[in-house]
Amino acid sequence: MRYEVDFLIIGSGVAGLSYALKVAPYGKVCILTKANADEGSTKYAQGGIAAVMYDSDSFDNHIHDTLVAGDGICDRDVVEMTIREAPDRIKELVQYGVNFDREGDKFDLHREGGHSEFRILHHKDNTGEEVERGLLQAVREHPDIELKENQFAVDIITQHHLGQRVTKQTPNIECYGAYVLNGETHQVDTYLAKVTLLATGGLGNVYTTTTNPITATGDGIAMVHRARGVIRDMEFAQFHPTSLYNPRERPAFLITEAMRGAGAVLKDTHGKEFMQKYDERLSLAPRDIVARAIDKEMKISGADHLYLDARQIDKKHLINGFPTIYAKCLEIGINITKDMIPIRPAMHYHCGGIAVDMKGESSIHNLFAAGECSRTGLHGGNRLASNSLLEAVVYAHNAAQEAVSRIKDIDLCHAVPDWNSNGMVLNEEMVLITQTKKELQEIMSNYVGIVRSDLRLQRAMDRMNLIFRETEDLYNRSILSEELSELRNLIACAYLITKQAKARRENRGLHFSIDLIN
Ligand code: FAD
Ligand code: SIN
Repeated sequence: MRYEVDFLIIGSGVAGLSYALKVAPYGKVCILTKANADEGSTKYAQGGIAAVMYDSDSFDNHIHDTLVAGDGICDRDVVEMTIREAPDRIKELVQYGVNFDREGDKFDLHREGGHSEFRILHHKDNTGEEVERGLLQAVREHPDIELKENQFAVDIITQHHLGQRVTKQTPNIECYGAYVLNGETHQVDTYLAKVTLLATGGLGNVYTTTTNPITATGDGIAMVHRARGVIRDMEFAQFHPTSLYNPRERPAFLITEAMRGAGAVLKDTHGKEFMQKYDERLSLAPRDIVARAIDKEMKISGADHLYLDARQIDKKHLINGFPTIYAKCLEIGINITKDMIPIRPAMHYHCGGIAVDMKGESSIHNLFAAGECSRTGLHGGNRLASNSLLEAVVYAHNAAQEAVSRIKDIDLCHAVPDWNSNGMVLNEEMVLITQTKKELQEIMSNYVGIVRSDLRLQRAMDRMNLIFRETEDLYNRSILSEELSELRNLIACAYLITKQAKARRENRGLHFSIDLIN
């Protein structure tokens, strides 16, 4: 099938949905999403969204905290713009129907690692679920937005699909839409669009242990890489210090940093505090520092987890303020008012991705990106907690404004051919895909994790080359499937993380190599 739209949106998390609501008055809008509409990282966000809402705090403080966490390589203009825009974007979320907890007529604010003030707006400990619910409801009630589930975007369409040679040096690469595998018909449909937004989220499944849902396979980043667009900062994979240690569970359940903000402290296997050895901000140091400290303590003791002790927090506050975590832990026999919580780090957020300018446009003309798949320059070497939902709504807004301003001047490219699947056979060996995915995750976790070395990175590269060749071979012979496409995307992202990690010859933010210690 061929479809024609003005605004094509791939992904239905906070970035895709908030953009859709903004462009809807200006043309035909279609959101495609590969699973159920609410499935994505947004729904799992716990802590909240950072913004300066009152005079007790200041933009300068939030800017300063973001720059410090980013370890000196944030783009200062981007940081200033994002943080100053934050209050307006929060007000819009509230207008769309998103609820944040309040104390009287003011928002109740939490604090998380790296923040010098209480500035995290939240909805109990399930903020993301509330954000996704509110936005999805607003989108579903909007008469001019079409939302299609189980539609897997395979590739964006550029001059390459018109038979032209496209390289990284090609000036003015243009996006004409996307090829999309329809989960119901199993055919590849052609979506022609004037403007396309990638809002495909993160890539946590590149690693064995992650807080990300199974949808986080780096599809948007891989698509842009294949289309020869610019991808940056891939070495900065952020591991959250405190995922619940429950080995059989995937994704790993998160224990929000807000719990440390409320007074919980990290302890070793003997129940002793250890963060004083690593940073004067103790358990509330930025995430890169805390995750590395936990990793080191685990290696020294040989333990497979450490603890978070929340028992000193007032019992009522603990149960009422963190009801999801309380219930989850009880399910596995841990009463957080009485027991320490077993934790370990898990891959959580990806700071790098599709390079975009301050209007959210990628290096490919008429292709925008927002949310976790994008690299804006806000996070530098390490994202400050709760700046991600914020970045998504700010860049969805900026991208929408820019897209709307040019939509009348763009024509659809009718010369785009349909997807060609001639000569391909059904791949009946699922094991080739599932096993290769596990191998890739093991390689990345063992060699390109929290602590790296030149040798580990080279070993990862060598192993990945083989996996890459085998998978490309399988892809070229097989009828397209979502599983195989996701595997290809994971491999592309893993390759980019490793390559860009090898290229960074300094320890900076989340990139830490034992060969670069001064
Ligand atoms: P997502 O919400 O992940 O949505 C991506 C969408 O793209 C999904 O709908 C997916 O199905 C779709 N998609 C992907 N690939 C394709 C494809 N090929 N074709 C079609 N559709 C596709 N950040 C904060 O700021 N504060 C927090 O408190 C916080 N807590 C977090 C807790 C957890 C457990 C996790 C995992 C993350 C947390 N984060 C938090 C990070 C934040 O939630 C995410 O960065 C953010 O929600 C990403 O939003 P998004 O719209 O970019 O992507
Ligand atoms: C958390 O609640 O600890 C996660 C916050 C974030 O990832 O920004």
